[in-house]
Amino acid sequence: MRQKIAAANWKMNLPKEGIEAYFETLRQTVKPNSTRTVWCVPAPFLEKCAAEVEKIFNSKIAAQNIFHKPSGAFTGEISSTMLKQIGITATLIGHSERRGTFKEDQDMLTQKCLHALEQGLEVIYCVGETLEQRKSEQTWDVLSEQLATIKSISETDLKKFCIAYEPIWAIGTGVSATSEQAEQAHQFIRQQIAEWKSQSNADHLPILYGGSVSPENVTDLSKQENIDGCLVGGASLIPEKFAKIIAAWKEI
Ligand code: PGA
Repeated sequence: MRQKIAAANWKMNLPKEGIEAYFETLRQTVKPNSTRTVWCVPAPFLEKCAAEVEKIFNSKIAAQNIFHKPSGAFTGEISSTMLKQIGITATLIGHSERRGTFKEDQDMLTQKCLHALEQGLEVIYCVGETLEQRKSEQTWDVLSEQLATIKSISETDLKKFCIAYEPIWAIGTGVSATSEQAEQAHQFIRQQIAEWKSQSNADHLPILYGGSVSPENVTDLSKQENIDGCLVGGASLIPEKFAKIIAAWKEI
């Protein structure tokens, strides 16, 4: 059975003053279960959030990005070493906003993944196509290119790795992929892992769906065989909504 994961991506949102109340609501609503909950929060809030989630069962705080060097002249960047010093052991890499707005290319993202894993961090690695790429039937080529990072990851490190399939046209638009579209992409991703690594790696690696996940569409998504969880932006900012999303991944 693959690990189920409900992950939140706050992006550059939420004020510091709202954090305690946010987690208090979740503490009251989330029932202990085997689903792992992860919050990817802005860097200045990492430590505060980590202290808050200590009392929430099976949960952890992750960074939204790291640089692939341990230290040096890299103004504005955060290293895996610094994260570990404050007790943070996971990070998002390759979110489409990093790829698009901040022009992080595939080579850099592969270096970031390898570095983070080598440093012992867990990684949620994001992939996904644009609307134009989907319309011109390039989805599988684009995903293959982005997934090629996996070829360089050792089988041991793959145990600390998970993938978030986030079609760019579904992010922040309110138009989620249908559960069938998402399942088809997840099947493709799993096949690639089986082909490049091993069937056992493919069977164990959690693949999350992201893009306008909400309390309304999460149940359908959670019923798909190859969808093991979700990465949630907008709806994760409202604790009552995110609590409902977490509950949908509860194992039966
Ligand atoms: P969204 O964002 O849920 O607001 O669409 C998802 C993401 O960008 O990770």
